[in-house]
Amino acid sequence: MRQFPNTLEYIGLNTPLGEEYEFDSLAVEGRMPPDVEGVFFRAVPDPAFPPFVEDGGAVLSADGMVSAVRFAGGKVGFSIRYVQTERHRAEVAAGRALFGKYRNLYTDRPEARGLDRTVANTTPVWHAGRLLMTKEDGRPYRVDPRSLETLGRHDFGGRLRTETMTAHVRIDPETGEMFFFGYEADGLASTKVAYCIADKQGNLTREQWFDAPYCALMHDFVVTKRHALFPVYPTTCDADRVKAGGDHWVHEMDRESWVGVMPRYGDVSELRWFRGPRGVSCFHMMNAFEDAGGRIQFDQCLSSVNAFPFIQRASGLNVPPAEAGGRLARWTIDLGNGSDAVTETVIGPPGDLPLVPAALHGRRYTHAWMLTMNPDMRAPPVLGGPVGAMFNLLLRLDFTGKPPQALALPPGQCFNEPVHVPSSNPRHHGWLVMVVDHQTGPSDFSHAVWILDAGNVGTGPVARIAIPHRLRPQVHGWWVSAAELAAAA
Ligand SMILES: [Fe+2]
Repeated sequence: MRQFPNTLEYIGLNTPLGEEYEFDSLAVEGRMPPDVEGVFFRAVPDPAFPPFVEDGGAVLSADGMVSAVRFAGGKVGFSIRYVQTERHRAEVAAGRALFGKYRNLYTDRPEARGLDRTVANTTPVWHAGRLLMTKEDGRPYRVDPRSLETLGRHDFGGRLRTETMTAHVRIDPETGEMFFFGYEADGLASTKVAYCIADKQGNLTREQWFDAPYCALMHDFVVTKRHALFPVYPTTCDADRVKAGGDHWVHEMDRESWVGVMPRYGDVSELRWFRGPRGVSCFHMMNAFEDAGGRIQFDQCLSSVNAFPFIQRASGLNVPPAEAGGRLARWTIDLGNGSDAVTETVIGPPGDLPLVPAALHGRRYTHAWMLTMNPDMRAPPVLGGPVGAMFNLLLRLDFTGKPPQALALPPGQCFNEPVHVPSSNPRHHGWLVMVVDHQTGPSDFSHAVWILDAGNVGTGPVARIAIPHRLRPQVHGWWVSAAELAAAA
């Protein structure tokens, strides 16, 4: 019997499950849209073994599982398997945890020495017919999209130099290129950042390195039609602290944020650094584009402090979510006026997990979706997930002046991050596919996949598929159409 600590990382919705399973044909309630034909891949962290060190960051270093919700001809299947990382295989062989604190190899057991620490638990990335399970502290693992069998680490045929790759790549909808980066590219607390491009066929065509202003948690970035933007917020790493067994990340409220901007096909020597406000934090960027005047508009789910409770504790901070200054912020960057300042405009409410149709990445866009907390909810949110509380309000934001749409869940229910499925009808806004959790008792949950009309989210699901098994919270997901899967085969 696995005995996990009785802490928020391991109880309730976060209870470790550690099971691989598959369901062939699940009952569909409602009407399945014919557009929803393909696979919704999900990254689900689930620790296989109880920890041997106390670690708030454990929420981010649980073993990656890859889950697939398959939609084919009106039938729905569901499967989930562990990503067979070197770390997971070593721990299974040992029958216990070997790796210590989140991103601190100095807390590992001796048997872990020299082994790859990544857990591949953040985003299933689909590019050039390959499914990659990613996490920003290492290189990705390639997974078979049908069997979910792990095929091994992916290093672009031996060409990749950076030791790390972001879980938030950007794919250009016209060229099919994948833009990505890796920070701490050559090791612990390094300021080195690798900026990489893979062509439509998945060949690594460029890898350039530059120095960030300081070693920071760089979770996401954005690419426009003409530029690549590298935002840097002051959640920082110090090698001496890590070597002493301390936390990888501390948030520094007095330190400036920065955005590095360069032509997306340019040389890193062309990077220009623009100064943002002090102390701010952002994990997920909504989008960025050049406006008619050539200025860059960069939209992000910003807050005035890092929202992770364990990072706040390590930083001597204790800012409740309501005081965290969350907002959808637009930073305008003018490359022509000689100033190194960004101009901030608030364009939306607090929230996270922003979603833009894949075809509009890097382009001017009129609408987007994101998750947030319902400010009118009279009951506490469902506890769980990496920040401790799950979102209960889905928003469709409109940037043309129309009012937002909202779908509020009743108490006890919560959303996992949706994916967007485009419609074959160009006038239709497509569909959102997502997992909804429902707490039915102190340790009892039921789960369902919901399909929503993306242009009318307030009307609720058009179809629901109950999953007859406990699920753990998902991090990110990816939609792969049946046509893309067939082309890859
Ligand atoms: Fe993320």
